[in-house]
Amino acid sequence: MSENENATPDADEPPPVEASCSTDCSSENDPSIGTPRRNFVVEIMAAGVGALVGIVPAAIGGLFFLDPLLRKRGKGEGDGFIETDLVLDALPEDGTPIRYTVRDDLINAWNMFPDQPIGSAWLRRIQDQVLAFNTVCPHLGCAVEHRPSEGDFYCPCHTSAFDMNGEPLNVIPPRAMDTLEAEVRDGRIWLKYQEFRGATSEKVPV
Ligand code: FES
Repeated sequence: MSENENATPDADEPPPVEASCSTDCSSENDPSIGTPRRNFVVEIMAAGVGALVGIVPAAIGGLFFLDPLLRKRGKGEGDGFIETDLVLDALPEDGTPIRYTVRDDLINAWNMFPDQPIGSAWLRRIQDQVLAFNTVCPHLGCAVEHRPSEGDFYCPCHTSAFDMNGEPLNVIPPRAMDTLEAEVRDGRIWLKYQEFRGATSEKVPV
């Protein structure tokens, strides 16, 4: 048996002092306790920033892609009618037709060309209504003219002739002139411009 094993505590030696938590044991003062919480907050913030970085460009790209679909088409109110710059009183009361160039906003993919000519129409005033015809000949697509001297509409390409109501006067055209829907709203003329297939007896929109 060694001398150390037989040694007894010295009665004069003070007992070992245990660490006290009265002043320095809080987590605030212990960096090893606060670190996981701070890391969690940083991760949340990083995830938020990452989401913004991803979502914002995606949203902008989506809007750009859908732009032609979302953009309001034409000058009308969604019913297909186009507001013209003509008032009813601009048409002769005796029904003499005037040729009117129809204009609308054209949209080609992501480009818009405002107020472009898209076709033309013959407009006649019948009392408080408007009788409108597409000027395209239903035979093979030439432009139909008005002949005041003959009191008719006439196509010089193959001599189709129509009366003032657009009905054929000879056998050349396959059908009557193509009427267009027209309305008078608050004194102004609105027109639903359409084009139709040529060389058919049926009036088929294209
Ligand atoms: S295109 Fe008009 S008569 Fe033929």
